[in-house]
Amino acid sequence: MNGAFDDWMKTVQAASENDLSGFLPAPAVVPAKLHAAMRYALLGGGKRVRPLLVYAAGALFGADAAILSRAAAAVEMIHAYSLVHDDMPCMDDDELRRGKPTVHVAYDEATALLVGDALQSQAFLVLSEADSIPAARQVAMLRLLAHASGSAGMCGGQAIDLDSVGLSLTLEQLEQMHQLKTGALLRAAVVLGALAGKDLEPAELQALNDYARAIGLAFQVVDDVLDATADSATLGKTAGKDAADNKPTYVSILGLEPSRALAQKLRLDAHAALAPFGEKALRLRELADLIVQRKA
Ligand code: IPE
Ligand code: IPE
Ligand code: MG
Ligand code: MG
Ligand code: MG
Repeated sequence: MNGAFDDWMKTVQAASENDLSGFLPAPAVVPAKLHAAMRYALLGGGKRVRPLLVYAAGALFGADAAILSRAAAAVEMIHAYSLVHDDMPCMDDDELRRGKPTVHVAYDEATALLVGDALQSQAFLVLSEADSIPAARQVAMLRLLAHASGSAGMCGGQAIDLDSVGLSLTLEQLEQMHQLKTGALLRAAVVLGALAGKDLEPAELQALNDYARAIGLAFQVVDDVLDATADSATLGKTAGKDAADNKPTYVSILGLEPSRALAQKLRLDAHAALAPFGEKALRLRELADLIVQRKA
């Protein structure tokens, strides 16, 4: 990693933390337990990859910082909600997330359910209050996020994931599951950032979709590899959980080295997709590298 990228990343992560806090109800506001639990789930942890993608895509078209901050916060809220629910006993039943006890452990199951529900609503509220862009574009952004979050996106992928325990999926089915459960929100982050800048030409949208498909799949391939190879302290979540739960993953179906090789191939596909944007896509290129080379 180079110093300029590192500095940029730290700046965006700090700005996101600050914005996320500002976009949540204060912890003392009634119902105080729910608001404290929402803060517990959202603040003080996470790599903030989705906000980083929003800002990096926003740089392509000189998007306004106020819109980017709302788009970044909205997609990170949906992501945090998905993690809270993913960890619940009815799903992956995990006790560690972002280096802390999961929300249902630190609070209780009903609170975890409501934290997810409320973060999801808060995401759309925050994006709907981005009032300095044309209304039609704002509606397009809201629709994009709704589509990526629901049964045609993240929730759909989670449903396939849960139904696939103990099954040996084909590579095609595995890719579809990963593209939905993880890829959809990452794609939303990229396209939201770009839309914050301007209406997109079909060729621009195509290039961004190609980039997002590659990093979206790569992200979950690497998540599967890290689950099998890293330790819980490094990951901040329980390592070895996929094999223990008999989940079909890239590691279980393709093997470790072919999975690593696939992630590298997808990194190059992502770079190739960005060619039309030239130097303006520097941060998006660097984020593709980060997604594939990360250790946690
Ligand atoms: C974990 O996402 C869940 C997946 C979609 C694979 P991240 O690895 O982005 O988790 P945080 O936000 O950094 O905690
Ligand atoms: C979850 O995938 C993806 C979403 C939360 C939508 P995983 O179940 O593999 O995520 P981790 O490994 O628990 O972070
Ligand atoms: Mg899961
Ligand atoms: Mg999980
Ligand atoms: Mg995982």
